[in-house]
Amino acid sequence: MLTDFTVIGGPSSEQLAKKIASRLKSKFISCELRVFPDGESKITLKGKPSGKVIVVQSIYPPVDSNLVRCLAITSEARKFSSHVYVVIPYMGYARQDRQFLPGEITTMEIVAKMFKSAGATKMMVVDIHSTTALEHLEIPAKNISAVEELARYFKKMSLDDPLVVSPDKGGVERARNFAKALGVEYIALEKQRDRKTGNVAIKSKGLDGVKGRDVILVDDMISTGGSIVKAAEFLKKQKSGKVYACCTHALLIGDAEKNITKAGVTKIISTNTIPGKTSIVDVSSIIAKAL
Ligand code: R5P
Repeated sequence: MLTDFTVIGGPSSEQLAKKIASRLKSKFISCELRVFPDGESKITLKGKPSGKVIVVQSIYPPVDSNLVRCLAITSEARKFSSHVYVVIPYMGYARQDRQFLPGEITTMEIVAKMFKSAGATKMMVVDIHSTTALEHLEIPAKNISAVEELARYFKKMSLDDPLVVSPDKGGVERARNFAKALGVEYIALEKQRDRKTGNVAIKSKGLDGVKGRDVILVDDMISTGGSIVKAAEFLKKQKSGKVYACCTHALLIGDAEKNITKAGVTKIISTNTIPGKTSIVDVSSIIAKAL
């Protein structure tokens, strides 16, 4: 066992943190979480950290609670070590990295400040929604990608002339990397989101080269499922074959899963940055390697 590392598994990422610790052959500490009737979190570390500390805690819903829990663990860890590497597999608030409409607050700015003041010395995230979000951080930060791990999952499947599709132009590089890992073609649809209502629409017109082909829709995250639903409906209208929805972070808010299935998607595949029914692909090895 390496004695110069301690991995602390925050309540939102305990299983993933355990896997990372085992890959690093390091000490592992879990956290006991109590939530008071008023919603406050009380966290107890179930051991004493030593050496360099790695805190693993995703910031998925309840986002604000998981954020405060992450800050609290970071601050406690800093009392034991001058090196606190905070690994946030899914970084909430990354979509609020800039002002889109007048008066909007760039909340990522204050989130970044809080991590520095809590004592984080380094940060790692996985497929962050936008790397602009990381520019607000005042500590060194690294974004790693789960695209190759996700693509590996599809390599084992027998797909009919597969085509990788990004639901929007912003995701074209992700689609390109995914397609390259599989050795297949890719395209990006044109999506429009109403900044006030959040509703999405696909603006692409009829496409050649989709008919009869199995499609892998690739996105960084699925939240309400709106983007995937609209993209899947569009592809089905183009007479595509099977449609798979694949993402790093599956939030699947509300009826997202039901709506995605209704839109004709055969299967949703995501990673364990957010644990759940669809989180089939494990990111512990890429995190451990990058650490
Ligand atoms: C947007 O640019 C992102 O890459 C995702 O497409 C989006 O956040 C997914 O959200 P939803 O599932 O609510 O459409």
